[in-house]
Amino acid sequence: MGLGIAYVAANVTRLPVVLMDINQAQTEKGMQFFDKLLAKDVAKNKITAEHAKVTRELVSTTNSLSDMSDVDFVVEAASENLNIKSAIFRDLDQVCKPDSILATNTSSISITKIAGVTKRSQQVIGMHFMNPVPVMKLVEIIPGLATTPEVLKQTVDLATAMGKTCTVVQDIPGFVANRLLMPYINEAIMLLESGAASAEDIDTTMKLGANMPMGPLTLADFIGLDTCLAIIKVLHNDTGDSKYRPAFLLQKYVDAGWMGKKNGKGFFTYK
Ligand code: CAA
Repeated sequence: MGLGIAYVAANVTRLPVVLMDINQAQTEKGMQFFDKLLAKDVAKNKITAEHAKVTRELVSTTNSLSDMSDVDFVVEAASENLNIKSAIFRDLDQVCKPDSILATNTSSISITKIAGVTKRSQQVIGMHFMNPVPVMKLVEIIPGLATTPEVLKQTVDLATAMGKTCTVVQDIPGFVANRLLMPYINEAIMLLESGAASAEDIDTTMKLGANMPMGPLTLADFIGLDTCLAIIKVLHNDTGDSKYRPAFLLQKYVDAGWMGKKNGKGFFTYK
């Protein structure tokens, strides 16, 4: 998702972007996909070759967090894991200049909790993009307990400049998007687990019976089953409400390494 965010920031907003990953192979792979996206947009006459050239020049990559010392705005998009995000925010707080804003693209973890590991919780905010970022129009903006109105405004302005529509959501488990989406997906998996219907029939029911563009099991495969499990676990743990208990079958698929579309096997099979 970090790559998609970088793409929109450079290609739409025309901002200089530093794309950071601890792994060099990941930044290289990311930039290959970046170039593919640019080439596709040029081929479809969405942008000119000159626009693509400038976009490309706006992006630099790094594998060292110390290169973030001069940036104005950070959007962290690491795995949906509190320990990983906390470690990153602790480091960012040390490295980044005092007035930079630190946003997290978490899809469910408490912003207040992440902000709490820094000494600048008033400048920490949630910026929940949807995947794939260049295609999906929504960004949920989530102020933490200490986030100032000025930081909220700057974040909404940035997301709007990226061509996105913002909603502002309180810092509750799952925010709004995943508070609605994950119980829906989890329930579909429980239906499959109970043998109530086949995966195909569950998805067809929602596509043809409720006008959903894709069924819940296909959508889970697209999001990634490990991500779905991580989010539903946050809902379950943070609310203490048994209605969010993860489906056993979801846990089993993740244990088996069946993560969905990204590795070819989830509720459906992908080439
Ligand atoms: N990155 C950038 N662009 C992408 C992309 C990607 N990973 N995947 C597809 N696209 C672009 C294509 O380039 C294409 O662009 P153009 O219109 O310029 O040609 C466009 O999307 C449509 O692609 P395709 O023609 O290949 O069509 P598709 O049938 O494969 O549809 C899709 C692509 C619209 C993204 C479709 O797969 C889809 O609807 N996926 C589900 C999206 C969704 O619901 N996302 C929300 C998930 S929930 C979430 O993110 C929140 C959370 O916290 C879990």
